[in-house]
Amino acid sequence: MLHLRVETTWRYRDTHDRLLHTQYPMEIDRRTRLTGGNMNEPVRIGNIVAKDATDASETIHRLLQHVRDRGIDWVPASIAVETGKHTLEFIPGEVLHRPSEWTWNQGILRDIARKLRAWHDATTTFPLEGARWNLPCSEPIEVICHNDVAPYNTVFRDRTVVGLIDFDTCAPGARIWDIAYAAYRFVPLVPETAQTAEEMFALFSKSQVRERIEFFLSEYAMGNEPLRYSVVDLVCTTKHRLTALSDWTDRFAVESGKSKLQEHARVYRLHEQLLDRLK
Ligand SMILES: Nc1ncnc2c1ncn2[C@@H]1O[C@H](COP(=O)(O)OP(=O)(O)OP(=O)(O)O)[C@@H](O)[C@H]1O
Ligand SMILES: [Mg+2]
Repeated sequence: MLHLRVETTWRYRDTHDRLLHTQYPMEIDRRTRLTGGNMNEPVRIGNIVAKDATDASETIHRLLQHVRDRGIDWVPASIAVETGKHTLEFIPGEVLHRPSEWTWNQGILRDIARKLRAWHDATTTFPLEGARWNLPCSEPIEVICHNDVAPYNTVFRDRTVVGLIDFDTCAPGARIWDIAYAAYRFVPLVPETAQTAEEMFALFSKSQVRERIEFFLSEYAMGNEPLRYSVVDLVCTTKHRLTALSDWTDRFAVESGKSKLQEHARVYRLHEQLLDRLK
């Protein structure tokens, strides 16, 4: 058991306006390493998650405060960036590091589309001056993209979406850029483990995949025609998105020494090719 002196007093409220913690660091015997991520090794201390701070953490801290002030209460409250750590509210529930069969329920597809739309709308007023990001911007800049909306960054309770986490990849960009990645993971455009054209349609047939894309896009647009993207737009953007992601992942694998990420880059390239089957 590790004991730390209590040096800081923080008061913050959860999404139901309950006071969560008044002191941190607390006695850290309740410290738990959170597994499942690839980039970071967050630690949970009671109702708080501590991640290694990055150059973008101050900006992300302000961004989370900005969207929560605009009613997006299903992202974690950002508590502080200090002493090399970014601390955030822990959202109780289940994060799917391996999808279950219920991950593909239509209700979840609708929840993700609507929440992504609400997140994007809330970010349009975020002041960009002085902001720093870990990823490059994707032109045209319309919103702040989350850039990694996927079951492994979504918190579920009772098979419904209750939270979105992991904002380290946020960067200004185009709505469709973010929609493309969320659709890749949640429709899914290509199932995570698919390596061949046959495996691509193991979960849903080609016509079902296209129907699910249409549904996702229409739930995102919510009747706003200029925001109703086409299936062709979505597939083309996802191809660009996966190419950019595989290049970035290859570079990051070398820089960080995390060579297992090269396998992820290979899969992104393969999936980019498989997407031609949906055209
Ligand atoms: N605020 C939170 N509420 C609930 N669970 C969390 C929270 N933050 C992190 N976790 C848990 O810790 C895991 C890793 O956290 P996170 O996704 O932030 O790290 P990462 O290493 O940056 O992930 P990735 O590989 O997706 O980039 C999450 O998948 C989730 O299970
Ligand atoms: Mg994550």
